[in-house]
Amino acid sequence: MADKDGNVSAKDYGVGVEPPGEVFPIKGAQHLDWGAQHRLAQMFNPASGNTVMLAFDHGYIMGPTSGLERLDLVIPPLVEHVDVLMGTRGAMRTCIPPTVRKPICLRGTYDASVLFEDMSDGGGLAADMVNAVRLDACAFAVQTFVGAPGERRSLETLARAVDAGSTYGIPILGVVAVGKQMERTEKFFLLATRLLAENGANVVKTYYCDGFERVTAACPVPIVIAGGKKLPEADALTMAYRAIAEGAHGVDMGRNIFQADDPAAMAQAVGKVVHDQYTDKQAFEFYQDLKA
Ligand code: 5RP
Repeated sequence: MADKDGNVSAKDYGVGVEPPGEVFPIKGAQHLDWGAQHRLAQMFNPASGNTVMLAFDHGYIMGPTSGLERLDLVIPPLVEHVDVLMGTRGAMRTCIPPTVRKPICLRGTYDASVLFEDMSDGGGLAADMVNAVRLDACAFAVQTFVGAPGERRSLETLARAVDAGSTYGIPILGVVAVGKQMERTEKFFLLATRLLAENGANVVKTYYCDGFERVTAACPVPIVIAGGKKLPEADALTMAYRAIAEGAHGVDMGRNIFQADDPAAMAQAVGKVVHDQYTDKQAFEFYQDLKA
C-alpha cells in the first residue's frame, strides 16, 4: 500500500528529454484507441511487420473439412508455428486449450453452408462483441460478399461490427469472399478491399491476384491473403512469396497449411517467407528439409 510519509523524494524528471515519440507501425492504425492498437500489435510481428494467421474456421460452413476432422488433435501442434489463431467460438471453447499464448481472431459471422447453391447470400453476426471480449479476441472477422446478392446485408453486418469493435477496442478483419459467380480480377479485388477498409475494417483478408501490388497500395489498412484451395506446397509458397513481395502484411491461411503433407513444416516454411524474407525456392527447400 502507498505510504503517506517517509517516501524517497521523486527527482528524476528527465527535464529536456523528448518523449520517445514512437509512431504506431501498423498501416492505418495510428489513430485507433490504445486497446485496439495493443491487440493489433499482438497479431503483427514487430520485426517483420507481418503475420502468419492460421485459419481453421472452415467447419462453420463446410463441416468437417479434410485435415480438420479433429480440431483438438490438429490445431494445438501448429500453434507454436503461427502468430494468430482464427476460428469460431465453438472451436475455441471446445478444442483449443485456453493456455495457448497466441492471439485469437474470432470468426464473427455465420453464412449459408455448402449445402446451398449460392453461398454468397450473406449471413449475419454469429457472436456479439461482449462474447468476443470473453474469448479474449484480438480481432473479429466479418465475411462480406461484394458484388453478390449478400452485399448489402454483409456490409450492414460489417458496419455494426465496426461500431461494436470501436466500443470495445477490438479490430475488425474484413474478409473478401469469392463466390461461384464472383470475379477474381484485379479490378474486383481493388474495389472490394478498398470498400471494406473504407467501411471501417482494420485489416482486410483477400485473395492473391495479378496486379496485387496495386491492390495493397490502394488499401489503407494491412492486407493478408487467404490460401484458398490446396495447392502443391511449392506453389502455395510461391503465392505467399509474391503476395509479401507485392505488399501483403501476411497470410491467413488454412487448407494450404493443414492439408499439407506436413502441416507443421508448412506453417514454418510460410513463416520464413512472411517474416524472414525467404524466397519461395528457399522456403520450399526449408520445407523439404523439415518434412517428416
Ligand atoms: C473464407 C475464410 C476462410 O477462413 C478461409 O478462406 C480459410 O483459408 P483458406 O482459404 O486458406 O483455406 O475466411 O472466406
